[in-house]
Amino acid sequence: MVKSTKLASWLDEIKSLCQPDEVVICDGSKDEYDRMWDLLQHAGVATKLNPEKRPNSYLVRSDPADVARVESRTFICAEQESDAGPNNNWVAPSKMKDTLNSLFDGCMRGRTMYVIPFSMGPVGSPIAHIGIEVTDSPYVVASMHIMTRVGQTVLDALGDDDFVPCVHSVGRPLVEAEDVPWPCNPDNLYIAHFPESRQIWSFGSGYGGNALLGKKCFALRIASAMAHDEGWLAEHMLILKLTNPEGTVRYVAGAFPSACGKTNLAMLIPTIPGWKVETVGDDICWMKYGSDGQLYAINPEAGFFGVAPGTSMDSNANAMLSLTENCIFTNVAETDDGDIWWEDMTDEAPGHLIDWRGNYWTPDSSEPAAHPNARFTVSAAQCPAIADEWEDLGGVPISAILFGGRRASVVPLVNEAMSWNQGIFFGSIVSSEKTAAAAGKVGELRRDPMAMLPFCGYNMADYWQHWVNIGLRENAQLPAIYYVNWFRKDNDGKFMWPGFGENSRVLKWIFERSTDAADAVETAIGNLPAIDAIDFSGLDLSDDQVAELLRVEIDGWLSEIPLIEDYYDQFGDHVPLELREELRNLKQRLQNAKQAAA
Ligand code: OXD
Ligand code: MN
Repeated sequence: MVKSTKLASWLDEIKSLCQPDEVVICDGSKDEYDRMWDLLQHAGVATKLNPEKRPNSYLVRSDPADVARVESRTFICAEQESDAGPNNNWVAPSKMKDTLNSLFDGCMRGRTMYVIPFSMGPVGSPIAHIGIEVTDSPYVVASMHIMTRVGQTVLDALGDDDFVPCVHSVGRPLVEAEDVPWPCNPDNLYIAHFPESRQIWSFGSGYGGNALLGKKCFALRIASAMAHDEGWLAEHMLILKLTNPEGTVRYVAGAFPSACGKTNLAMLIPTIPGWKVETVGDDICWMKYGSDGQLYAINPEAGFFGVAPGTSMDSNANAMLSLTENCIFTNVAETDDGDIWWEDMTDEAPGHLIDWRGNYWTPDSSEPAAHPNARFTVSAAQCPAIADEWEDLGGVPISAILFGGRRASVVPLVNEAMSWNQGIFFGSIVSSEKTAAAAGKVGELRRDPMAMLPFCGYNMADYWQHWVNIGLRENAQLPAIYYVNWFRKDNDGKFMWPGFGENSRVLKWIFERSTDAADAVETAIGNLPAIDAIDFSGLDLSDDQVAELLRVEIDGWLSEIPLIEDYYDQFGDHVPLELREELRNLKQRLQNAKQAAA
């Protein structure tokens, strides 16, 4: 029941704009979830998987034109263009409102408008926030049931407070035309955010981050703007719990760009005896100060929406074990016995599959069986490694923050910032080399500061300033910051570091830095592990290889300084003076080190 007068009048407005046939207020119940699947199966877009293989799970095939987030159609509609910054597509709010008003006019005719009250974060947590998503997609309703907390408890917690209004339509009214299994309107795609009035409007896509508006749109783009104004942090970070053999616990957050193994790290199984990693979150982290001056974090999501291809018992056993039942699989392949498969799930592909487009597939087919951005959607509670406190209302205290990219050279395995501001500097320069598969020159750097490039809802340089300001709070007990790189290559182009579970060795050093049990040496670029401070025993690594993984490449870093200067220059005088100073100091220390070595 809607008691909030604000909500009731907003719903009247949206209803008269979109003109649905019917309005349903979602209660988050199992009945409602099952009803969505009846509708989706009837529409021909969902298949129930073999209950003996994958109980209560569904396979969905989207329209091949609607398979991923579309950054080129994602807009930040701040009043001033400079507030959106060069990192965002900008359209003036009034102009975007005109466009949206005509697109949404009657867009839900012949359809049902679902109203989803959802909480990002455990209901009642002081770190959580509430949104209301209106959508005409039953797939979105079912997915939001898993990815967020939905229903009456959320409306009760909302009272008459403000909520983030999120309006979504697949953009295909059912007037005379027959419906299609996956309605969408890719030629008229808009994912529009209004950071000042904190609204989200999404039109034309039913997929992932374009349509499940709690995730990237709210929990990152709008929340980053809220966090800026209110003095907290909304980050594209995993949260993990690390326990040493004596039972002491630390919580670590980490930002990694897409395709750097973030979900794998969040669910890592340590290779070092006695250590334990548990998962609090795999994608998004909201942090607010506690009265003790520590930053407390929650995972605002309730589920995982992970990339399926590449996930296997080898790469991420905990993810695989989460997926045994109650899942949604989108754009994966279907096996003959009514189960699912994707590239690299097993060493050998099955001899025959139905691919993500619904076509007959064999290992000789030239196309992948699952779409490269095929996804699983599953409740976080099903993860065998989920930490007991993952839903603690007060969050977990963060003692370290990791930033990482994918760098074949220059950036060592791990580097501890000497100060909060140097840590922000590390975050601001996170980058990955382009591979042969991506457009652009091979080896060219793509910067993805704090892994927030597609997700920062305002000017990226103002966001860095916000990080600087967060560090100025009196009595702050700031987390230590680390720049990590699992992807260093040798002269033959082979990865030098085994990664996956072996990353626990680096986590151990980070943990032991927080308990003063591990040493570091101060270098020109930051604090690196002292010799023997990281436990490399049992790994097939020579002393030379270890030295190389931890080498300070003076010339390599010096040649990056002008690239960083150029990168900063695009943000002009929005770049914090503190970061310019970090850059100058780094250059000076590198030059001194070079001279000393000469
Ligand atoms: C995601 C992403 O889907 O970062 O989590 O792209
Ligand atoms: Mn992500």
